[in-house]
Amino acid sequence: MTEAFVFSIFGATGNLAFNKLFPALYQLYQDKKLSNISMVAIGRKNISETEYLLEVERSVQNKLKHYIHNTLTEFLEKITYYQMDFQEKNSYEGLKNLFEQLDTNINEKANRIFYLATAPSDFSVISQNLKDSGVLETTAHKRAVFEKPFGYDLNSAKEINKVLTRIFQEENIFRIDHYLGKEMIQNIMTIRFYNHIFENVWDNKSIDNVQITIKENEGVEGRGGYYDRSGALRDMIQNHLFQTLAIVAMEKPESFETEQIRNEKVRVLENVKLELQNIEAKNIVFGQYNGYLNEDKVEKNSKTETFVAMKCEIDNKRWKGVPFFLRTGKYLDKREAEVIIEFKKTSMNKEEESIEPNLLIIKIQPEEGIYFKINTRKPKTEREIMPVSMDYCQSCNIYYRSPEAYERLLWDIIQGDSTLFTRWDEVEVAWKLVESIIMHCRNKECLEIYDKKTKGPEGAETLIANYNRQWWSVEDLERAKFDF
Ligand SMILES: NC(=O)c1ccc[n+]([C@@H]2O[C@H](COP(=O)([O-])OP(=O)(O)OC[C@H]3O[C@@H](n4cnc5c(N)ncnc54)[C@H](OP(=O)(O)O)[C@@H]3O)[C@@H](O)[C@H]2O)c1
Repeated sequence: MTEAFVFSIFGATGNLAFNKLFPALYQLYQDKKLSNISMVAIGRKNISETEYLLEVERSVQNKLKHYIHNTLTEFLEKITYYQMDFQEKNSYEGLKNLFEQLDTNINEKANRIFYLATAPSDFSVISQNLKDSGVLETTAHKRAVFEKPFGYDLNSAKEINKVLTRIFQEENIFRIDHYLGKEMIQNIMTIRFYNHIFENVWDNKSIDNVQITIKENEGVEGRGGYYDRSGALRDMIQNHLFQTLAIVAMEKPESFETEQIRNEKVRVLENVKLELQNIEAKNIVFGQYNGYLNEDKVEKNSKTETFVAMKCEIDNKRWKGVPFFLRTGKYLDKREAEVIIEFKKTSMNKEEESIEPNLLIIKIQPEEGIYFKINTRKPKTEREIMPVSMDYCQSCNIYYRSPEAYERLLWDIIQGDSTLFTRWDEVEVAWKLVESIIMHCRNKECLEIYDKKTKGPEGAETLIANYNRQWWSVEDLERAKFDF
């Protein structure tokens, strides 16, 4: 059983709280992991607690069809709605009293978790006010969770970090990137380090190129105001794609201890080489979907990118010469996230164009699993080669319910395990990389318009074709089999 704790959410009337945080907390509660929880939902809206709880109830019911009525009622009874404006110092006095009252109710000092589901510009002011008002004065643990993006650029991230580290100890700061909580992202290390067949070929002698793709098939979905200030580079590449790249490319850590893993990840990011000055190569492509400018709260002449494709390399012995292609965008032809490891052709098949390379594809979403493509002899032919695949679909198993990324991450926060959260130096180096891309694309024609429900801008195809490679996708590979 966990120690008693109060889970408070700042921004509790927002999209993230309703759609992700409360469903994940409820699921953990239903799984009997959170019997000692109390929750404080902090929102600005002037609504009654009853109205608020109705909204939480509806969102859990919508997200989790298997909810249990009585358990949900019990869960809702553990939430207190506290209305305040983050900027108003005086409101924190009442919050302090509320935390103390919750301690009195259970006759012990509960651990305090502060989840900031807010814009990064609110991180410092909330943390400072929590400190100044005495909300942090307790002998129990205090943990603070900060949603991505951590800052708007390198400078703002540094400023925020300076304030937070004065208030919380690093081990109690959880910079969340929910992608790291996804089942198959966690599986990457297992696939690499627990399979001899992969561990020994995970380098530039055997791997031709690596592709990391996160495609979305929807637009900004009512979040135009936020997205227009952010764009795909800040919203996706800085965190999800660079973090995935770090896990794919890192050296084997000395142990699977939190800090060892983080040390290896940061080493990869420090060695990422973008080669943006090589104008001929055009190693970065920005796209914007047709119709983006008509989205609510988007500037009419916005240059914000809704698509990024890029090529980079990792400047170390293991990866020298291996291109890493990253690609992400909104309103594309499908929703799909995959890591693709393309192996080199063998000495026998490298001259034969028609013979495809081995591919290891780690399927992250919507399907979770592993796809492995190898070459075999076509039956009843003399020497004709055909590709076949071994396709393991983890999420297809009817007895398996894939936990939501937030379930895993919230559970880790409650237990104080920060392995799947980003350390400051990882965030910092990722911002440095993003800043160099922004500098490069400022005033340059990086942006191409693309039609909705397509593969994205033509430039992304040209980018990879310039390196004599092609983008792969499990769905396309499977469809091609029946293309006759
Ligand atoms: N939504 C997602 O799926 C998702 C995923 C990953 C990361 N994130 C990140 O999480 C953060 C929150 O996202 P979101 O989608 O939940 O945003 P959102 O829907 O705009 O919610 C923001 C919340 O902050 C509250 N708020 C803003 N200013 C306030 C103030 N001065 N005082 C009190 N409350 C204030 C809002 O209250 P009102 O309702 O009263 O305005 C609302 O509850 C963002 O940084 C986002 O990038 C979101």
